[in-house]
Amino acid sequence: MGTLRSMYKKNEPITMITAHDFPSAHVADAAGMDMVLVGDSLAMVALGMEDTSEVLVEEMLLHCRSVARATKAAFTIGDLPMGSYEISPEQALDTAIRFIKEGRVQGIKLEGGKEMAPTIAKITRAGIPVLAHIGLTPQRQNSLGGFRVQGKTADGAMRVLEDALAVQEAGSFATVLEAVPAEVASIITQRLSIPTIGIGAGNGCSGQVLVQVDMTGNFPLADSSPSSSSKVKARSYPAPEHTYPISKDELEVFSQAVGGKREGQ
Ligand code: KIV
Repeated sequence: MGTLRSMYKKNEPITMITAHDFPSAHVADAAGMDMVLVGDSLAMVALGMEDTSEVLVEEMLLHCRSVARATKAAFTIGDLPMGSYEISPEQALDTAIRFIKEGRVQGIKLEGGKEMAPTIAKITRAGIPVLAHIGLTPQRQNSLGGFRVQGKTADGAMRVLEDALAVQEAGSFATVLEAVPAEVASIITQRLSIPTIGIGAGNGCSGQVLVQVDMTGNFPLADSSPSSSSKVKARSYPAPEHTYPISKDELEVFSQAVGGKREGQ
């Protein structure tokens, strides 16, 4: 955590990659990744499920344990699966504790913005680091109408910013920002005092998270985007072709509304 904070202060890009088992975690750790995520995307890429809604806590815990055995330097995060944290902050804390004690990870990730703030506060007060996940939240694909880019209008961008500020206020040490236009993600990043870890959100975020099978291109259904830690560190990945557009007019309205400076500056 201290390392991540000091990287953020020095404006050094933070690298994060998913790993689902001992060998993939070993590769990630040996490659010098700053964070390793046992993402619930393992439902599809490791277990062959249709989507992330099917994966169970026990299955995630098994994968977390195997990843944790391999990670020596990287900060390791486990993803709380759908159904294991939304009912109440107490349910979420209970699951988060299992991830630390049984999964042997160092922190947890959960999806959601403003509405998850009390939950994030409850977990962080218990001493468990929380990585938030806002923008496109794949566990809610049914209510979002599929995997849709978020923040494409001034109003939508404002909602993502409000979510970012809420998860920061609740105590998250960082937030994943998924599928948001690059310019919007940049403005949000400048307004926060915690790192943003982008995926499909441009190179103006504080760091990037990559799904390992996407990066290696060895999974047929994956969107293969060859990339590496060094490209993230050099901010040459993601390039403009890996980002989503926003119209000039909508961006102008959003930038005017927020200014683009950090809170309190
Ligand atoms: O499950 C996952 O792999 C994720 C990343 C895409 C952030 O949540």
